[in-house]
Formats: sequence, C-alpha cells, structure tokens
Amino acid sequence: MTAQLINGKEISRQRLEEVARQTAERSAAGLRPPCLAVVLVGDDPASAVYVRNKKLACGKVGFKSLSYELPAETSQEDLLQLVDGLNADSEVDGILVQLPLPKQIDSQAVLERIAPHKDVDGFHPYNVGRLVVKMPLMRPCTPKGVMTLLEAYGINPEGKKAVVVGASNIVGRPQMLELLLARATVTICHSKTQNLAAEVAAADIVVAGVGIPNFVKGQWIKPGAVVIDVGINRLDNGKLCGDVEFDTAKERASMITPVPGGVGPMTIATLLENTLYAAKLHDKA
Ligand code: GUN
Repeated sequence: MTAQLINGKEISRQRLEEVARQTAERSAAGLRPPCLAVVLVGDDPASAVYVRNKKLACGKVGFKSLSYELPAETSQEDLLQLVDGLNADSEVDGILVQLPLPKQIDSQAVLERIAPHKDVDGFHPYNVGRLVVKMPLMRPCTPKGVMTLLEAYGINPEGKKAVVVGASNIVGRPQMLELLLARATVTICHSKTQNLAAEVAAADIVVAGVGIPNFVKGQWIKPGAVVIDVGINRLDNGKLCGDVEFDTAKERASMITPVPGGVGPMTIATLLENTLYAAKLHDKA
C-alpha cells in the first residue's frame, strides 16, 4: 500500500482564503485589519526565513504586520520593555516573539510577559493551562494546524491510539493535549522512552516532532496508520527532510504528510487564524 499524501499546502491555502474573506468583511464593516507584531532577536537564518514568511502571509490576507528586528546582544530588559509596549498598544492584536532567543535571554520570562489575549503562539502558561482544562483560548499553532489537517482529511482521533514523538513545549506537549481534547488515547514519547519502536508500532496516528532527520523509521509504522511529520530539517545537500523516514513510511501508512508541503504551511495559516481571533477578542474588549 502506498499512502495518500496529506496536502498541507492546499488546506493552508483554503484556510488563508477564509481568513482573507473575513478580513475583507471586517474592512467593509469599518473594522480595522488584524495587526500582528513580529519580533526577531539575532540573526539565526532559519528564524529569519520563518519570520519573513509570517510577515508575507500577513500581507496576503490583508493584515497589518509590524516588524521588530533586534540585535543578538539585546538584553532581556530591553526585550521585556518592547513586549510591554506592544501589550499596551491598542493597535496591536497579536504578538509573536520568534524562538529560539539568544542565550542571555530567559525565553520563558519573555513568553510570560506577553498579554495572554495577544499571545497568538499560545505559549503563555495561561493559554497552556486553558488547553489542559479543556477550555482552549489561544492554541499553539503547529499542534492546532495538525488537528486542522486531520479534520480536513476526515480523520477523527476519537478512540484512536495516538503516539506523539517529542515532548517540546512548542510541539509535543500541546499536541498531546490537542489529541486528548479530541478524545484519542495518547502516549507521548521522549528521549528516555524505553522502546520507541514498539510505542510507534501501536499507533493509529503518529505525530513526530523531534527535529532529527529520519528519526522515526518507516518499519515502525503500523500498516494503515496516519503519519504526521512536524519536522523540518535541512540536510547538508540543502534539501529539507522530516523526522520520519518518508520513503519506507509511505509504503505502510494510509496517509502521510510530506516535508515540505505538509505541516509547515499549516503553522502559518493557524498563526493568522489565531491573530484574526485575537482581533475579534480585541473588538469586544
Ligand atoms: N520557533 C519555532 N517554531 C516557532 C513557533 O511556532 N513560534 C515561535 N514564536 N517561534 C518558533
């Protein structure tokens, strides 16, 4: 069996079209366009690409974006001051501080400084806690984007065994909560997991987010499973590859996300959906 490809590019395009439609509708009703403030500290090349794509996407759907590019040696105090200013700025609906931050800055302190209703990444402990108690407000973009993809392809996690590989704050942990909210039976694996192959082999749905090329072997995949690959790794030859060994996994899975063109575009689409949602909250405030 060769798996059906899950086309994140196409689903993302559809979701962005809807965001653009709602933005135009707001404008016709005299409401201002949603405004996203994007903060980049330092010169990490991958982060610079991600931030550029986020700003470009804002332009395409008619959002306003504000860009803050700060030098690598920026102090934590200066960054916190910028966040305070953006929190207080009534024009700003969403704030995104691109991670990772330089070593001298405590990332958690910065994320906790963002006003929860402007936290379009969903990384503030308030928003994480809301997800834990089944009352989501701002939901982390990549895991929420994965849920959108599953829904678009008619995959209902309810009652299924889902295995999340990787326990990061950005992907694995919130993905575990999203799948639990969707009533899957969830196992989360990490670097101390004893028999990863056996855990993955039991899964109806596998979500991999570890940042290691080809970490999840195709032979581990249960025949007919759905495989969602969150990894975007650049190889020495310049090509992108995921965390799952694609060529072997696609021969066992029923559906699989490619890299690129799978989960990646969904992260951006979800960020803009969250920003639109933040603007709607802001309208009511
Ligand atoms: N770095 C890698 N992924 C993300 C993300 O989703 N949001 C932010 N802010 N930084 C990231």
